Amino acid sequence: DITAGILGTGKYVPERRLTNQDLEQMVDTNDEWIVTRTGIRERRIADPAQATSDLAYEASLKALNAAGITADQLDLIIVATITPDMFFPSTACLLQERLGAKRAAAFDLSAACSGFIYGLSTAANFVKTGTYRHVLVVGAECLSRITDYTDRNTCILFGDGAGAVVVGEVPEGRGFRSFELGADGSGGELLRIRGGGSRIPSSQESVAAKHHFLEMNGRDVFKFAVRVMGSSAEEALSKAGMSKSDIDLLVPHQANVRIIQSAMERLDLPEDKCVVNLDRYGNVSAASIPLALADAVEDGRAKEGDCLLLVGFGGGLTWGATVLIL
Ligand code: ACO
Repeated sequence: DITAGILGTGKYVPERRLTNQDLEQMVDTNDEWIVTRTGIRERRIADPAQATSDLAYEASLKALNAAGITADQLDLIIVATITPDMFFPSTACLLQERLGAKRAAAFDLSAACSGFIYGLSTAANFVKTGTYRHVLVVGAECLSRITDYTDRNTCILFGDGAGAVVVGEVPEGRGFRSFELGADGSGGELLRIRGGGSRIPSSQESVAAKHHFLEMNGRDVFKFAVRVMGSSAEEALSKAGMSKSDIDLLVPHQANVRIIQSAMERLDLPEDKCVVNLDRYGNVSAASIPLALADAVEDGRAKEGDCLLLVGFGGGLTWGATVLIL
């Protein structure tokens, strides 16, 4: 029997910081409102010359290095993103070329902020069945490119960055214990980019109507998030045959510190058992969870043998959780 787990993690964030003070100059908002309502203090913004595959590339190099493998050992590349470089070729194919991962198949995965968990479950199943040995899973976003910086309801939330992991065989006792994925398409209009696809193709009208920016019903997404973060985390624990007290570290999607706090309360977790980095990076959609994971590995909070619970939610609507022993 093959057990699939995480062999290495990596992250990359662009240099440029967009602080709450910067946003005060751009829209009618203030640092105090943003910090108390969201917990965010600053986000990273990609250089104009960078696109999502460039951020993904940097994070992937680090993950490959941490896993101790080279790009030509990769069998599959999955990039979870809602801000691909372009419609096609996929960002995963652009990354495959950049890395020189000649043997690897490659595709993008669209599940918004839950995309990384969806990607992990796909990778784990390919490894478990013996189909592939090494799968690179990347969450990468340039959300600044789809953000309307005149809309104070959304522009304070989002940032750019990438996180990556290599999934492969791990010794017994480690690895993924359960996955819980879900979707509710009836909430699709709560969080979306309307334009640019086959429903509303790009045109002067679609640009004027701002259909190429992310739009969001913040309050309804908030309620959904609080509900589903708790329920999917509990479901993943129960599928793994584990209980709340087994968790060493919660690695939640970084959308709003109040949503994270409600998940911690439901799971009876103290603050030191949860990774929070949204103060520095904001919401980076599919990149949030792997960025938080890589941060926790870097600073020693997530160690080999620890029981981690990764949980996220996002547009679709979608959600996902996994329990794993690192
Ligand atoms: N600065 C100052 N005031 C603001 C701002 C701002 N940036 N934004 C909104 N306000 C005002 C509103 O206009 C409103 O004023 P009103 O009462 O006069 O109408 C007031 O503040 C309260 O607004 P609410 O929307 O009720 O504020 P709330 O506490 O719900 O916080 C927030 C808003 C932060 C967006 C919250 O709802 C949230 O985090 N929702 C979840 C968002 C989320 O997780 N999105 C995931 C996206 S993931 C993906 O798939 C990309």
